[in-house]
Amino acid sequence: MANKVIKISDISKSYDGDIAVKKLSLSVDDGEFLTLLGPSGCGKTTMLRLLGGFEECDGGEIFLDGKPMTGIEPENRPVNTVFQSYALFPHMSVYDNVAFGLKIAGIPASEIAGEVKKALKLVRLDEMGQRMPGELSGGQQQRVAIARAIVNKPRVLLLDEPMSALDYRLRKEMQKELKELQRTLGITFILVTHDQEEAFTMSDRVVVMNKGCIEQIGTPREIYEDPSNLYVARFVGEINILDGIITGKNGCSFNAEVEGVPVSVKSKRDFSEGDKVHVLLRPEDFRVEVMHEVKDDPELAEKFAKALLKGTVEHTYYKGATYDLDITLDDGKKILVSEFFDEDAETLYFHAGDRVAVGWFEGWEVVLPHEG
Ligand SMILES: Nc1ncnc2c1ncn2[C@@H]1O[C@H](COP(=O)(O)OP(=O)(O)OP(=O)(O)O)[C@@H](O)[C@H]1O
Ligand SMILES: [Mg+2]
Repeated sequence: MANKVIKISDISKSYDGDIAVKKLSLSVDDGEFLTLLGPSGCGKTTMLRLLGGFEECDGGEIFLDGKPMTGIEPENRPVNTVFQSYALFPHMSVYDNVAFGLKIAGIPASEIAGEVKKALKLVRLDEMGQRMPGELSGGQQQRVAIARAIVNKPRVLLLDEPMSALDYRLRKEMQKELKELQRTLGITFILVTHDQEEAFTMSDRVVVMNKGCIEQIGTPREIYEDPSNLYVARFVGEINILDGIITGKNGCSFNAEVEGVPVSVKSKRDFSEGDKVHVLLRPEDFRVEVMHEVKDDPELAEKFAKALLKGTVEHTYYKGATYDLDITLDDGKKILVSEFFDEDAETLYFHAGDRVAVGWFEGWEVVLPHEG
């Protein structure tokens, strides 16, 4: 069992009666890269502020390295925060910005120079110590903020949307650098973002939040492939939500009627005959065939005969590596399908108006209880 550096037990926080964090519990492993992911206002920043000691919990308790943090001032917690706004001191050089915390902590000047140099080197700014913050790009200022936060080797680094001000390319670059830095330092990182791709790229585990609560905690793959409810499924990536009803059990599979068509589905959850369900499929999970080919090819017809939804292609969208199809199923349900593009083909294989059969391999679906 990995050592738990943070244990959060049942914490709550309200502002003027409005709940920002609601009875939330969570443990973080030593050296873990954990991301809080959720929409605006779901309580991510509040969580970081509670961890950093900038706010006190209304109830519950936070433990860092086993010690309760109630009443402990931010500067006495083994935690540093990188705020979204960087908050560099504009009138101090890069070097002095990074050295500031060490000076305050009373580290001897002879040691400070070496530590600052090391921190600046880690963020690849060793040549820039004498510059002023105003003479740096956004990405460089961001790296100064990170150097300043890691220079005194906190146990935990809290990062609040640290890359949201950067352009797309720089953000991608910084994500990799930050991940690399975390591996090098072995410090526990807790990142806040509302960007799913960023969360997935960087994290060991992702915490999906909604209205001050945790909806799911898991590895990026668990969150994407096995969402625990519709909220999580919708928040990460594109999802098709088909309606179904369980019609029976068949070994470790269930018989179901999905959008009016009998199919066999798998689920780790248990269902009974008559249960209404959602059957979730990502756009890339579907396999699509033009109908006349299904008829012409007896093998395909046989394979798909059990589990085929029928529909009509409404639009095709060229996306580069893939192309998307909007399909309306015969019962009126609209779905999004993503197909790989055959670069040798002269035209797209599917066209608006095509009658198609849509299937998937049993087990690729996620079956959830109907949320009403
Ligand atoms: N100082 C405060 N006073 C009053 N309400 C606050 C305060 N700070 C946060 N809130 C409220 O608490 C809730 C959670 O806010 P929080 O800043 O934690 O959200 P967030 O997930 O970080 O959102 P964003 O992605 O927009 O930064 C929101 O409804 C917000 O309005
Ligand atoms: Mg915030």
